[in-house]
Amino acid sequence: MSDLLQKARNHEARAAASIDAGARPAFHLTPYCGWMNDPNGFSYYGGKYHLFYQYNPYDIHWNTMHWGHAVSSNLLHWKYLPAALAPDEAYDCNGCFSGNAIELDDGRHLLVYTGVKQEKMEDGKIRDIQVQCVAVGDGENYEKYEKNPVIGSSKLPEGASRSDFRDPKIWRLSDGRFCCALANRAPDGSGQILLYTSGDGFDWDFWSVLDANENRFGKMWECPDFFRLGDKFVLLVSPQDMVCGGEYKNGNGTVCLIGDFDEKTGKFVECSDQTVDSGIDFYAPQTVLSPDGRRIMIGWMQNWDTCPIREEGSPWAGQMSVPRELFIRNGRLFQKPAKEFDELRGKSVSYKDVSLSSVPTTLADVSGRVLDMEVTLRPGADCNVCSVKVAESGDFYTEIIYRVRERTLTVDRRHSGSRRALLHAMECKILCASSELPLRIVLDKNSVEVFMNGGEQAMTTAIYTPLDADGISFSADGSASADVEKFSLKM
Ligand code: FRU
Repeated sequence: MSDLLQKARNHEARAAASIDAGARPAFHLTPYCGWMNDPNGFSYYGGKYHLFYQYNPYDIHWNTMHWGHAVSSNLLHWKYLPAALAPDEAYDCNGCFSGNAIELDDGRHLLVYTGVKQEKMEDGKIRDIQVQCVAVGDGENYEKYEKNPVIGSSKLPEGASRSDFRDPKIWRLSDGRFCCALANRAPDGSGQILLYTSGDGFDWDFWSVLDANENRFGKMWECPDFFRLGDKFVLLVSPQDMVCGGEYKNGNGTVCLIGDFDEKTGKFVECSDQTVDSGIDFYAPQTVLSPDGRRIMIGWMQNWDTCPIREEGSPWAGQMSVPRELFIRNGRLFQKPAKEFDELRGKSVSYKDVSLSSVPTTLADVSGRVLDMEVTLRPGADCNVCSVKVAESGDFYTEIIYRVRERTLTVDRRHSGSRRALLHAMECKILCASSELPLRIVLDKNSVEVFMNGGEQAMTTAIYTPLDADGISFSADGSASADVEKFSLKM
């Protein structure tokens, strides 16, 4: 093991011991210590789910990336393992960036990741050289391959960027070959997804341009994921520099392209596009196929534009979303909390047809910061706004606002305790046509995840409200009623 990896492992064991378990979310993964961004290497190996993550163990800010590591049998109770990768080689000395993992035929676990090394150009400017590397291991300790990088700049097609070439996603084609999707910047300055194939996972050849952004969805595409879902294929990408339009909001977003994949040519034919999550904090998701055939997605529950919302001195920064099962309905990607999460449901309280008014209604036993709740809002003819406030106490609350005539849902965390002047509210057009709106609200200490209409749309938002703000209330500006079922969670 390199000195750098040993140093990270020593540091994290010490630093994590001083983080009180109560200072972490109840069922969302946070870094062992320090900073976390993208999920990496999401895979099922040795009878467990493995989730690695972009990791700076030394600080609560992004810096030279390591890979943190955790394992779980239900995707909700995680056990930390020691850091898996440190930037300890010449080709990755400026960071082990995002990547993925797969089991090899001989039973070893293969990690595929982007190695970053900076170089000084003639004009004195610094630029990244990004190459693809592998490491093999037993589910806890990994050794980098002596012939890294396995996909260097020389294997790029004509005109492709050497600086923006990252985030490999690996899977197997139907003929057994390994295939890798990689994010790259095309000569037009926007993203493209390149495919490489390999017989053994070590020796790779360029195959095709799977799909190209052509400046439609932001600029550079990051963190591709690609998989079959039902009788379609899905390409997930996380674009940088989106402009606002249609379902999409400014900044870093997540786009789902549904289409068909031609395994002979390595080309993807898009049929439709949509946003994956309309909230503030969801980026760079990865998926895994569960042993029983479900496609499960976890995203980084944060946003590059809103990272500074945390206060200095917090014990950790960054968290993962709840695991979500994906499916296609009426040609669109739907998502709902994975069935493992449903299994945490404990005691429930349920209310039918509660009348709402401008005076906020609270309900006995409907409160808390760690819970799962189904709410159906039923506005009457004279009602334009229905609202659910969570994490509420005194001046604190985070509000979920249904504007009936505008047909929008807004999650507003201005009053969640943030001391920063950055984006605090996100609104989206509601797709379902009925005025009755079914919501599922998944609350953990530091997040609100709202699923609309059976998972047709999702809105995810991180909050850092003091934990004693645990009230929930319902109101409306005209006649309206609500059905509410709240579940405690068996943690
Ligand atoms: C996405 C991303 C990836 C990169 C990683 C670096 O959030 O920018 O493209 O590999 O983060 O930490």
